[in-house]
Amino acid sequence: MNILVTGGCGFIGSHVVRLLISKGIGVVNLDKLTYAGNPENVRDVGRHPKYRFIKGDICDAGVVRRAARGVDGILNLAAETHVDRSILDPGAFIRTDMIGTYVLLEEARLRRLKFFVQVSTDEVYGSVSSGKATEGSPLRPTNPYAASKLGADRLAHSYYATYGMRIIITRGSNTYGPFQFPEKLIPLTIIRALLGEPIPVYGDGRNVRDWLRAEDHAEAIWLAARRGRTGEAYNISGGSERENIWIVRKILSAAGAPEKLISYVKDREGHDRRYAMSGAKIRRELGWQPRRPDIADGIRQTVDWYRENRRWWEPVVRRNAAFRNYFDRQYGHRWGGGGRRRADGKQK
Ligand SMILES: NC(=O)c1ccc[n+]([C@@H]2O[C@H](COP(=O)([O-])OP(=O)(O)OC[C@H]3O[C@@H](n4cnc5c(N)ncnc54)[C@H](O)[C@@H]3O)[C@@H](O)[C@H]2O)c1
Repeated sequence: MNILVTGGCGFIGSHVVRLLISKGIGVVNLDKLTYAGNPENVRDVGRHPKYRFIKGDICDAGVVRRAARGVDGILNLAAETHVDRSILDPGAFIRTDMIGTYVLLEEARLRRLKFFVQVSTDEVYGSVSSGKATEGSPLRPTNPYAASKLGADRLAHSYYATYGMRIIITRGSNTYGPFQFPEKLIPLTIIRALLGEPIPVYGDGRNVRDWLRAEDHAEAIWLAARRGRTGEAYNISGGSERENIWIVRKILSAAGAPEKLISYVKDREGHDRRYAMSGAKIRRELGWQPRRPDIADGIRQTVDWYRENRRWWEPVVRRNAAFRNYFDRQYGHRWGGGGRRRADGKQK
């Protein structure tokens, strides 16, 4: 079997690529290599005879046609994925997450591929004040990232309803682990803790996310691709709801860094208070639950990974102007005390 994985040089995509190769499945990895894509993430499989990499944009129908030649199905993970960036620049999200998904769906339709998995997110439910979102809950995204992911989620579903294609939608919760670009809560906190730099925490730090290990997320996506019911959406919940500040404190403790590094900053605009999903459907229908549910353990292991893999992330933090510009743009005006801090934590 051959599978087209899009976004395979990204965080979760690289875990999916590794999983498929370990099972003897052929992989074509189509990735544009945006700031978030890094070929190093799949270096261990780079020379494998069943692995092929194509650098290209999922919005480019010609590239997608070439990449899809000879494949049985598509796992679509390519996306712009950072909520904060979507607030700064929604256009890139509409383009890749919605139009790119449309281009891929069209290719799958014309080629009559055996399956198409749209990797969606718990953010499509919006903030859940009590209880847990099930797959039938209202879909109320509140930020441009979540809204564009919902557009793709429902567009994919429409290809099932309209053309009878085998479409599966997965809605994963907040994911963490090795190879995550150091910009979202967990990896950003880890590298700043390791560098001894101030750690920005939005608002009162009490927003809740449901955390899922990347390896578990990858396994669930592949299981859903094989055994999920056609046309259905499946929540992939890590089953570990925690307040952001709990996560930050665990990281500091695992990194041996002091709590005085915590710096509460002006909240994210429209910040969803709580994400929470029920994982009952995928457990009931496919027998899946996370194999690595211990979040405290997972954070310790992830901190260890970043500590041991400085060569992977230091170039990004030290030399990558795009990362530094983003960090300044995002946090520059949010620090307390009227001062501004650079990515390296120094006061401006
Ligand atoms: N990270 C999470 O917590 C999380 C949770 C649930 C769902 N998801 C979904 O899982 C998928 C992967 O997320 P991630 O965190 O690994 O993302 P990521 O930002 O780490 O990686 C995205 C990858 O997509 C590539 N890409 C971006 N635009 C592209 C384009 N136009 N054409 C081809 N490639 C392009 C990037 O180069 C990068 O390699 C996304 O669809 C995301 O919405 C992520």
